[in-house]
Amino acid sequence: MNIGIDKMDFYTPAQYLDLVDLAQARKTDPNKYLIGIGQRQMAIPSLDQDAVVLAANAAEKILSTADRQQIGLLIVATESGVDQSKAAALFVQQLLQLSPYLRAIELKEACYGGTAGLQLARDFVAQHPQQKALVLASDIARYGLQTSGEVTQGAGAVALLVSANPRILAIAPDSVYQSQNVNDFWRPNYSQEAMARGKFSEEVYLKMFQNLWTQAQAQKLWQPADLQALLCHLPFSKMGLKAVRSLQGQLASVDYERLMRRFQASVQYGQVVGNIYTGSLYLSLISLLDHDTSLQAGDQLACYSYGSGAVAELFTGTLVAGFQEQLHPHSHQKMLAQRQRLTIAEYEAEFQQQLVTDGSAQELTQSDPTAPHYLTKVEAHQRFYV
Ligand code: CAA
Repeated sequence: MNIGIDKMDFYTPAQYLDLVDLAQARKTDPNKYLIGIGQRQMAIPSLDQDAVVLAANAAEKILSTADRQQIGLLIVATESGVDQSKAAALFVQQLLQLSPYLRAIELKEACYGGTAGLQLARDFVAQHPQQKALVLASDIARYGLQTSGEVTQGAGAVALLVSANPRILAIAPDSVYQSQNVNDFWRPNYSQEAMARGKFSEEVYLKMFQNLWTQAQAQKLWQPADLQALLCHLPFSKMGLKAVRSLQGQLASVDYERLMRRFQASVQYGQVVGNIYTGSLYLSLISLLDHDTSLQAGDQLACYSYGSGAVAELFTGTLVAGFQEQLHPHSHQKMLAQRQRLTIAEYEAEFQQQLVTDGSAQELTQSDPTAPHYLTKVEAHQRFYV
């Protein structure tokens, strides 16, 4: 029985910052951001849009009434959680009007959380083929104003509906994965911003990629000649580019060129949304399928998932017949085209907005009228959503 992604979509806030504007404000050569980092714009969330809201807005795009009744497992993967105890999935369950008879949990392991969720969902559906699992990978990447990580921020969520006989991508049961305790990137409970040893984090990302690639070859999980694309976790597009480039010399040139060409299609959305941590790899999957019309049913895609800390996994999926009918390139282009470009002053003001933490009441206004869900108020240390 095939199990995998039956439907998928993404949501990103209605405001963005152009990185040429940021480069000018930070007195940096724009080509450092555009070429050196490989990013063009980044999404800027408003105070009414937290990880719960982003996740619910992504999911709302794909769920039918029947899906809402069939979901037996709801996973919100995030490293931007709103509560240390209660799962973000419980707020989402209510917003999406899902069945009460499901398991609702939140998963965390940095940017790997989305893949952990997808693989758990796969196993759940293998045991319960009549049910579906909804995996929401939702994050706000914050490093702080005038930090070296500032240009690699972003916000958004990807929704993946996992089922038997999926209509987009069948996920292979076998993969290679690795975990190790490393301090390359982390966010202590008291901090709103991530802390990163930037260059070291790049090294760990690449070392784990090479190690898993070698293991996959040794285990004959696939032949490089059969891989039609290699998708990577994209904290910024240059990071994934370095992973693909590291294969030069290990692959026949025709295989290398094919992977490189398709890689360029996979970074289009990430380059204008920015890092969305848990969802980044899956945003690159959506980007590839929206931009490359030469892919066909039966094509095998490899996916490299990396979460600092660190856990990494290399797995494959196979496109299934009719997958093109499940894609929504026009609605994605419309969502991105409708976004408002912020000035540096507006971005900095938005970045410094905070929710009250003293138990008093704070009402919020809806920043994106095209999206159904937002945070309406905090009161008595609780969040209230529409
Ligand atoms: N024109 C073209 N390129 C230029 C340039 C110019 N004028 N000026 C600089 N560059 C290039 C540099 O040569 C460099 O290229 P290489 O990486 O190929 O060497 C690149 O621009 C970046 O410049 P710096 O080396 O000066 O790097 P930096 O100090 O600005 O930091 C960063 C870059 C480390 C990515 C930083 O933004 C950061 O810490 N980001 C957050 C951490 C991160 O994303 N790590 C990724 C791995 S961890 C992970 O994947 C999990 C996750 O999601 C966080």
